[in-house]
Amino acid sequence: MDNKHPFRKDGYTLNNQVLKPETLMLSYGYKPSLSEGALKCPIFQTSTFVFKTAEEGKEFFSIAYGLKENKSKKELGLIYSRINNPDLEILEDRLAVWDDADSAAVFPSGMAAITTVILEFLRPGDTLLFSQPLYGGTHHFIEKVLVQYGINAFGIKSGSTIEEIRNFIKTNKIEKTLKMIYLETPANPTNELVDIEAFVKVGREFSNSDNKIIAVVDNTFLGPVFQKPIKHGADLVLYSATKFIGGHSDLIAGVCTGEVNLMKRVKTLRTFLGSVPDAWTSWLMLRSLETLKIRMQTQCNNAKKIALFLKEHQKVERVYYPGMDQENKLQMDIFKRHCQDSGSMISFDIIGGEKEAFQFLNHLKIFHLAVSLGGTESLAEHPYSMTHADVPSEEKKMFGLTDKLIRLSIGIEDADDLILDLKSALS
Ligand SMILES: Cc1ncc(COP(=O)(O)O)c(C=O)c1O
Repeated sequence: MDNKHPFRKDGYTLNNQVLKPETLMLSYGYKPSLSEGALKCPIFQTSTFVFKTAEEGKEFFSIAYGLKENKSKKELGLIYSRINNPDLEILEDRLAVWDDADSAAVFPSGMAAITTVILEFLRPGDTLLFSQPLYGGTHHFIEKVLVQYGINAFGIKSGSTIEEIRNFIKTNKIEKTLKMIYLETPANPTNELVDIEAFVKVGREFSNSDNKIIAVVDNTFLGPVFQKPIKHGADLVLYSATKFIGGHSDLIAGVCTGEVNLMKRVKTLRTFLGSVPDAWTSWLMLRSLETLKIRMQTQCNNAKKIALFLKEHQKVERVYYPGMDQENKLQMDIFKRHCQDSGSMISFDIIGGEKEAFQFLNHLKIFHLAVSLGGTESLAEHPYSMTHADVPSEEKKMFGLTDKLIRLSIGIEDADDLILDLKSALS
């Protein structure tokens, strides 16, 4: 991180040294003196804000709507909670720190973040290239909704090499219309890693002064703690904040972070689509950010033990866990370049099919049988018939998503207790 980061506020450094995100999550962006000395940021449960004078109201609107150039780079004054709110602004400042991004925008769901970004940057006739597999909801939006707006979409296997990406673009003759590369890594639910750097490089090769192809990465599974796509050239980073960022399975939210000019466009469309989270959800997320690193690290430590246990189990055919498959040279190379750790999402093939998978799921006692992920409690689900039910079966087969695949999200419980539960459900 740059200690002269132009978008950072007071309290970002101490004695000229940049403070770590873990430290900044407790105080950054909040001034107790502005809130009666309250140690914690209050919940600003208000729809609108009172202007001191009519002149001030006029100025705030002219900055918000870009009617006047904001020469002094003044912060936007508080207007109306669909445009800004203190809980939301402090939360966004802290989220930008994690990704070392210029700016962040929070949404009422991960899907709201994803769809806003796609709609802002694509127009009829444009092409979107996306890594496959993807989260089922994103896949549905791309394949079923975007086509209705004349936007073409091409899916490419997530583990593709740089030559395969180049050839794919040429073979499908999409060099001229390609506007966005959309990646999800690790992929939900197969945990396959995508080479962000390779996609960014190819995107740059096909960009020109009139058309910059932007690279967008869904970083839900490993980020923001274990993977930083901006470092690898991504323009925008997306999250289902319902998952690790919220972290307690008690809220739905989404996040986009990135470069300031792109983020201005994202935030403007958000204002007019009206997809802004309320103060209560923003406040809950502020609280969650204080423990983000320790939650994710504990979950990851548990997951490592569980992945090793599953790998050795006679009823398990194959385990999909980032950094585990030493034989797969490309995946290991991506892992070493992109990931700081393996995270806490594990998928595995049980020997058999749907019958054996359901039997296992129905016998779990500590793991809850539920979709979603990244919360403090461990969850298990069957992607083929649940989260990815909507993806055509030929496509699922192509990407190794069969009816024997089980997805686990590992929580903060004791790892040995979780292994006990898995062992008894497997037997
Ligand atoms: C990788 C990924 N991205 C996006 C989403 C969508 O997020 P949300 O459910 O918060 O809208 C999900 C949801 O499971 C997901 O797993």
